[in-house]
Amino acid sequence: MDASLVGTKPDFTAAYNHRWPHSYFRAHLALDYMIPDRAKPVFERVFADYRRVRRKNSLKIIDVGCSYGINAALLRTNLDLDELYAAYLEPSGSLSRRQETEHSDFFRNCGLRDDIRFVGIDPSFRAVRYAQSLGLLEAGITAVETRDLTVNERCTLMDADILISTGCVGYATEQTFARVYHASATSRPWVVAFAMHPFSYDAIAAVLRGFALETKLVDRFRQRQRRFSTPAERETILNAMAKLGMEDHLERTTGYIYASCYISAPAGEAP
Ligand SMILES: C[S@@+](CC[C@H](N)C(=O)[O-])C[C@H]1O[C@@H](n2cnc3c(N)ncnc32)[C@H](O)[C@@H]1O
Repeated sequence: MDASLVGTKPDFTAAYNHRWPHSYFRAHLALDYMIPDRAKPVFERVFADYRRVRRKNSLKIIDVGCSYGINAALLRTNLDLDELYAAYLEPSGSLSRRQETEHSDFFRNCGLRDDIRFVGIDPSFRAVRYAQSLGLLEAGITAVETRDLTVNERCTLMDADILISTGCVGYATEQTFARVYHASATSRPWVVAFAMHPFSYDAIAAVLRGFALETKLVDRFRQRQRRFSTPAERETILNAMAKLGMEDHLERTTGYIYASCYISAPAGEAP
């Protein structure tokens, strides 16, 4: 995490690693966190391009910073994030009780599609375990920021089609992306990541260039991530963006922090 943002950025970490996701959803709803929802149609569009280019139907997705399997839940069903917030947080919501069978039944009844399989990577091992036990993730790996992957983990990452990430760049650095991409490199997966402003994607793009991937910043896919938590956070982020020469008129006008979308693919395949 960028040292200049520490202290003003809200600290969600207490909610990251619980057995149940309710406090995660409560903390994120309080800031109108919406990036997985806003990213969903972008991911779907890139998945469609990838299927066409690679002539492949069934996809294996690696979600870096998967948390409680939120991207998997959204992309494998017709649910949107508000429906998940309501299911978990409404007193009578279908996921309000801490009952594992109720949670797996809920997602199964939503028609979890199996032509998109997910492997999740996150240091929050309880969150990963939750998502795995419900069948949202086929496999989970606890973070690899500061350690090498094991042989088994490398096998789990083989044959990947696309790496995705939301809300995680800044926590996960180029170290994680290098290790994960290296393990899955034979299938030449694409990478689609949303990086909240003002986090830089340069070091990750440089690592991916080492695997002969071209990275494009796709301006029209920029999306809202969440509201500023406090005036102090707003000032810190706007100052950091100004220093980096980043366009900030949306942040200034709306009160929301945006995330840039980066897409990496081998030359000639870029969507
Ligand atoms: C804001 S949450 C985003 C979760 C989910 N992708 C979403 O958008 O709802 C950030 C996640 O990054 C995870 N994280 C922190 N450090 C990480 C690392 N080095 N590698 C992967 N994930 C990390 C946290 O445990 C947490 O689950």
